[in-house]
Order: sequence, then C-alpha cells, then structure tokens
Amino acid sequence: MAKGAKPWGGRFGGRTAASTEEYTCSLDVDRALWAEDIAGSMAHARMLAARGILTAEEAERLVDGLLAVRREIEDGTFAWDRSLEDVHMNVEARLTELAGPVGGKLHTGRSRNDQVALDFRLHVSRRLAEWDGLIRRLVLVILDRAAEHADTLLPGCTHLQPAQPVSLAQHLLAYAWMLRRDAERVADCRKRVEVSPLGAAALAGTTHDLDPAAVARDLGLAATFGNSMDAVSDRDFACEALFCASLAMMHLSRLCEEIILWANPAFGFVRLPDAFATGSSIMPQKKNPDVAEIMRGKTGRVYGALMSLLTVMKGLPLTYNRDLQEDKEPFLDADATVRASLSIMADMLGVLGFDPERMRAALARGFVNATELADYLVRKGMPFREAHHVTGAAVARAEKAGKGLEDLTLDELRGFSERIEEDVFTALDFGQAVARRLTPGGTGPDSVAAQLAELRAWLESGGAAAGPRQGTLF
Ligand code: ARG
Repeated sequence: MAKGAKPWGGRFGGRTAASTEEYTCSLDVDRALWAEDIAGSMAHARMLAARGILTAEEAERLVDGLLAVRREIEDGTFAWDRSLEDVHMNVEARLTELAGPVGGKLHTGRSRNDQVALDFRLHVSRRLAEWDGLIRRLVLVILDRAAEHADTLLPGCTHLQPAQPVSLAQHLLAYAWMLRRDAERVADCRKRVEVSPLGAAALAGTTHDLDPAAVARDLGLAATFGNSMDAVSDRDFACEALFCASLAMMHLSRLCEEIILWANPAFGFVRLPDAFATGSSIMPQKKNPDVAEIMRGKTGRVYGALMSLLTVMKGLPLTYNRDLQEDKEPFLDADATVRASLSIMADMLGVLGFDPERMRAALARGFVNATELADYLVRKGMPFREAHHVTGAAVARAEKAGKGLEDLTLDELRGFSERIEEDVFTALDFGQAVARRLTPGGTGPDSVAAQLAELRAWLESGGAAAGPRQGTLF
C-alpha cells in the first residue's frame, strides 16, 4: 500500500477532502486507547495462530512488531499520522512498516468495529478499577476523620435549619455510606463492561474459525459477546460507567457544598487548610473554598458527559454507525474529572480543620433539643401532640429571652407543664440527646462505632478493589 493511501481506499478513485479528513479524524481522542489497542491485537494474533489461521512464526512477528510499536509510543518517538484517521490504523500501519507484509494479516477475521468496542471496553474496565480504588481511599479518610470526632457534636439540619444534635462522626459517615454504594455500583458495572466483543467482526461474525473465548481469557475479560450485532453497536456499558461517575460526583458535590457553607464564618465549622484554599486579588481577608466550588461545578460536566453519550446512542439503528466515534470523548473527560475529584477530596478532607467549639456554640443557638423536651414529656405520660405544643410554647419563651431551653429555670419550665421535674436538664443535654439515639444506624455512639466497624470491614474485605482483572498484557 502506497504511503498516504487509505487502508480502505481500494474502491476509491478520488482523494478525501482535507476537511473530511479533519472532520472524521478521531486520533486526538482515541490515541488514549493505544495500550488497549495493542493488547487486543496481540491477543488476536495469538488466537489466530492457535487456530492455525496464521503460522506460529507469523504471530510471533506480529507480536514482536506490536511490542516495538508499543515501545515507540512509550518513548514518544511514534509518528502519529492524522491522515490515518484513528489509533487503530496508526498502529497497524506502523506495524506493517516494522514487521513487513505479515502486518496485513493481523486484521484477519476482525473489523475496526469489534476492535474499537474491545479497546473501549478494556479502557473503561481499567478506569473503573481505578475509580474503585480512589473511592475506597476517600472512604478510609472519612472513617479516620469520623473516628477522631465521635464526641464532637453539631446541629444536624433539615431544610438547612438546625434540627437535632448529631455527632460529627455520624454526619461524615453518611458520606462514607454513599461512597460505598458508589464503589459497589462500579463493581457491578464492571461485570457488564468486561465482556469481549472480538469475533463479532464488522457486524455478523466471521467465516474464519476464531476462538473469541481465548481472546477474552488472554485479556482477563470474564465473558464473550452473545450477539455480534449487539456487540459492535451498543455502548450501554459506557453509559452505565458514566452514570456511576455522575452519582459519585453528585455525592462529592453535596460534601463540597457543606464544606463551602461550613467555611463561611457565619458557620465557622471548618477552617480551610492553606493548601486547599485560594485568595482574592482584591479582598485581602478572603480565603476561598475554590477546590470545593470547582468540584461542585465539575459535577455538571460529568452529568453532561452522560447526557452526551445517551444522546449519541438515541435512535441509532443497528449496527455500527460512525456516530459511535463520539463515545470516547465524554468518557475520557468524565474519567479525568472523577479521578482528580476523588483524589483531591481525599487529600483535602484528610487535613480539613474542624472546629468543635463553633459546632457546640451553634448547638446552643438552634433549639435542637426541643424534640428532647417533647419526648421527655411523652415519657412522663403526655400525648405527643400536646407535648409538641407545650414545647413550642417553651421555645417561643426562650427565644424571646434570648436563651436556650436548657437556660430556663425549673420554675419557668414548670410553668409550661407540671410534669417537668429536675431530671429535665439531663434530657435537654445535647450529649445525652445524641447518646440516647440507640436506633441502629442512628447517631448514638454505639451505632456510630458499629458503622465504623462495618465500613472498615468492608474496606478490608477488598471487594472489587482486587484491582483490574487483567490478562497478561497490562
Ligand atoms: N474511529 C472509529 C470509532 O471510534 C473506529 C471504528 C471505525 N469503523 C468504521 N466502520 N469506520 O468508532
């Protein structure tokens, strides 16, 4: 094949317009898949030899050639050629230069359609394994910070209004549970990603006697495709991965929002470490939570990637359509975002300065022990609805006096109900309010300790963190 000729150019008489070449070229994006492309080709070549379709010697020359291509790419000496459209044809063209005409035999029984689907699946699978590890690292940081703050109390909110006292550990652990589900989702998604489409060829399978299962085994993939037309044309696995990323970012964005709020001096619950804050070019006093803000903002970008791919897929007839080339860019962008975000959140949270004094002061301002008084009255025999009403009146009185409920005298409190006795002050104590919440999963210290133990056991069990299920090639 002449230099500069298209590998598919046999039936073409005229040249491709430069604008067409530019418009259809995917190299800038899909060169990120070079390692997977080479790994997939090596597995394919070995399988062809095992089936007697190539000689052992031919396969060896192909594998050696592919290793040489890999070295060039790693060293940065590989001459990428945009006129060759994509990573697959760049690798194959260079292979043929290095290994000679045998390079032309690599594509036997294969199409770029099953090839690109394989490369992309391998890539997504590796990334999911990384997300899993990063999520687990963040969970570990959360557990350590929660363990430090089992006795730190703050107002838990509903409607962003002070509601009931909780421990900071309980508050932080809420995020650990969210992230654990994210990791479990990622692990489940991997089962559907790690399916080899190689052997589907262009769309219908091939007349060559291939062994798709051997390729899958070689690459560390758990299964092979069930239908060739489905195998070359669906990208549901990538949509699913992007949904996993979107949920993880959604969780991170909620944590970011709390860090941003808590760093505002009106809350003052956290002090931003200098390493994770930035200043203002005009207001000298400012210390801004930009890391958390950017992460909150980048969440939209990851949702965008999911929407973008879902929209690419919508209404696509079977089988491969070139629209599918638009699948990688959103994934690569979302992947970079989610990995950076998980990593920097773990770093930042690890050194975030919590201010238990400010949290305690906030407790005293929010009447967060009002439910305690109502429950106390119920324990003394009052119907809950009445207790709610009586407590409301006590809150109104305390608020008017600029006090907390616990600052009212026993006589003042008894003015609202004769049932109230000296032991009411124990009931109103914030620490007691937390300690009495014995519900499994609640904020009581035993529950928090049990949650910590369960989450640590989950981390130690490794689960999906066993790392990428890789074959011999990565
Ligand atoms: N660059 C293409 C993609 O990403 C590779 C597959 C091309 N297949 C084809 N039939 N033109 O989808």
